[in-house]
Amino acid sequence: MSKKIYVLDTTLRDGEQVPGAKLNLEEKLEVAKQLVKLKVDMMEVGFPSSSNGDFEAVKAISKAVGQDMIVTALGRAVTSDIDAIYESLKEAANPMIHIVLGSSGVHLEKKFKKTPQQIMEMGINAVKYAKSLMPQVQYSLEDASRSSFDYMWETIEGVVRAGATIINIPDTVGFAVPEEFGKLIYKINDRLMNLNPNVILSVHCHNDTGLATANTLAAVRNGANKVECTINGIGERAGNTSLEEVVMGIKLHPEYYGGYTTIETKEIYSTSRLVSATMGLDVQVNKAITGENAFAHSSGIHQDGLLKSKEVYEIIEPQDIGAPPMELVLTARSGRHAFMHIVERFGYQVVEKKIPEIYEAFLSMADQKKEVYDYDVVRLMEGYPKSY
Ligand code: KIV
Ligand code: ZN
Repeated sequence: MSKKIYVLDTTLRDGEQVPGAKLNLEEKLEVAKQLVKLKVDMMEVGFPSSSNGDFEAVKAISKAVGQDMIVTALGRAVTSDIDAIYESLKEAANPMIHIVLGSSGVHLEKKFKKTPQQIMEMGINAVKYAKSLMPQVQYSLEDASRSSFDYMWETIEGVVRAGATIINIPDTVGFAVPEEFGKLIYKINDRLMNLNPNVILSVHCHNDTGLATANTLAAVRNGANKVECTINGIGERAGNTSLEEVVMGIKLHPEYYGGYTTIETKEIYSTSRLVSATMGLDVQVNKAITGENAFAHSSGIHQDGLLKSKEVYEIIEPQDIGAPPMELVLTARSGRHAFMHIVERFGYQVVEKKIPEIYEAFLSMADQKKEVYDYDVVRLMEGYPKSY
């Protein structure tokens, strides 16, 4: 059975925590409007109790994003944070309070210095209070992947009974591995279905060992029906789960993951570039889906195959994410077929028996360079007549 996978974007909260990535209000509004075009289901836009600037930004964005968007902001399990969230979101059409509280041994002992029971009560009371203010409440068990299962489940039972509508399982420090994280989500989902099948099960992964996308997808396969992501995977330390990777992963394998998202994938590329430009954070060139080289092919064998049929080496069409068309990058490893394809694009007609000579001239030039640009080919061909 195919289920809808909800996508929450946290570029404007977890993503904006990257040092130097802070945006002003105008930039935040521009990104938020682009996220509306991308059709994310929910967006998390700040931590209102952290500063007046954040409070005002959450307030302005929540009014600007329209009826259909669930807009949320984060706070700790304390009344003052929940009040700040409420005040900043109260004019939104579709607001949600997001509460985070640690559940792992290390958080309980080292951070809070309270007993597990006291922390659990704090969480349950926070949800009860939030629920008295707004109908939609998400509860995150911070550092869930390093928590004891029994304690976590007892907490989930308590906060669901208190009214939480979404349970979020974060891999806060990027500690999880896909198979184990999948099993954890399976077990939670199994119990949650009996406790209250209407509660959404969400995951939020960090990329400390490069596994955020894999862990998120393993969770989806095992029952999670909401994923938390950022554009270009930006976020604390090594970043968060990258929205574009998870969305395209599910799109490529809908049966395997048993679901679909309603993301407007054609908006992925422009959203990626807007976030990169406003935050001043370059997209890694080989970044999956949105990197500069994601659709550039440079080896001779691949170029030859692609010129025969794109399907040979292309699993996603650049236009599916709104990116410029596939690019053949000429290097000394490019074959004749790719080189002549570019030469013909510049209006040259070369008879078969002359091709080896021109190709040899190209190879001598290419051996001196990392990459051959269009103007290098133009300059090389200036030495030949248009029909040769
Ligand atoms: O990484 C984390 O645990 C978080 C929570 C607030 C969901 O960002
Ligand atoms: Zn996080």
